[in-house]
Amino acid sequence: DVPGLVDRFGRVATDLRVSLTDRCNLRCTYCMPAEGLDWMPGGEMLTDDELNRLIRIAVVRLGVTNVRFTGGEPTLRKGIERIIAAAAALTPRPRISMTTNGIGLARRAEALAAAGLDRINVSLDTVRRDRYAEITRRDRLSDVLEGLAGAQEAGLTPVKVNAVLLRGVNDDEAVPLLRFCLDHGYHLRFIEQMPLDPQHGWDRAAMVTADEILATLGERFALSPSTAPRGAAPAERWLVDGGPADVGVIGSVTKPFCGDCDRTRLTADGALRSCLFSQTETDLRAPLRAGADDAEIAEMWRSAMWAKLAGHTINEAGFAQPLRPMSAIGG
Ligand code: GTP
Ligand code: 5AD
Ligand code: SF4
Repeated sequence: DVPGLVDRFGRVATDLRVSLTDRCNLRCTYCMPAEGLDWMPGGEMLTDDELNRLIRIAVVRLGVTNVRFTGGEPTLRKGIERIIAAAAALTPRPRISMTTNGIGLARRAEALAAAGLDRINVSLDTVRRDRYAEITRRDRLSDVLEGLAGAQEAGLTPVKVNAVLLRGVNDDEAVPLLRFCLDHGYHLRFIEQMPLDPQHGWDRAAMVTADEILATLGERFALSPSTAPRGAAPAERWLVDGGPADVGVIGSVTKPFCGDCDRTRLTADGALRSCLFSQTETDLRAPLRAGADDAEIAEMWRSAMWAKLAGHTINEAGFAQPLRPMSAIGG
């Protein structure tokens, strides 16, 4: 039996989120400036072999059962299919998912599924073309819509859609987004905006809260609490008009779920993070490159997770954002 990644609060991290790159082909206004960010230099990024090795250690020695690939935009990583295939070849085989903006997915869904990807979450904040171009600074809505359909066809299901509502920008789209997802069989989740932007522009008053979203949806749909077990999932789910379709709300700020957190994170340059909001990281790249063996790496991983904090402190005085923005942590 594999001793898991346990922390002082008794939580066990079984869900590894791996950021494959900090780059993105969109420039969502709440995530990045128009000119992009200072991307990680290539030499600082983990090689495929290094990544595969860390994932293997997590799965085989540390009890990780779920691996999610994130970015930046993970599909920008060359050879992502080979990385997925290496994870899928592990025993025990982890469940493998990806969080993506959906660009190019129509073309690639089949190969990703063949490599071993099980399911996919796609970010989509609006179903209006003009607005999509405004928010993301790229006129790519049709690519994403095709990507969603391609993912569905390739069996990357359930296809989930993540939407962030921004006050005065797309906060009138809760209902249209839900209608769109109901029509296509996608599972929609609304996400409260968190203070993780590089511009440090997050403003509590501008955040559209879980309660507001539910109130808006409640005017058009009958919502009842889903009886499906939530586990460590960030989304609280509601049956729509009696089900079976449901809608999720991820209330990270107003309804934190840190007490049930099951996550451990790896950045594209090999930093281990016990929390999205950690102020400290554990560099695994240096020991890896200095010849540490698997047992030593596993031990560093264990002690870093043991020190995981009880939760984020967004709602407390003196909160400070982590040094890395969302795009370099991987959400
Ligand atoms: P599944 O429920 O397994 O499909 O995935 P997920 O919701 O964990 O993954 P996804 O990458 O789609 O995350 C959706 C959103 O949930 C992210 O954009 C974050 O806003 C939020 N989120 C994910 N993980 C965490 C976390 O550990 N802490 C907090 N506070 N929010 C998170
Ligand atoms: N708060 C919450 N969600 C965010 N995302 C990006 N930045 C933030 C933020 N500050 C979302 C994206 C995407 C997912 C990966 O994370 O919209 O859906
Ligand atoms: Fe887990 Fe940190 Fe996210 Fe809370 S904020 S759910 S502790 S990663």
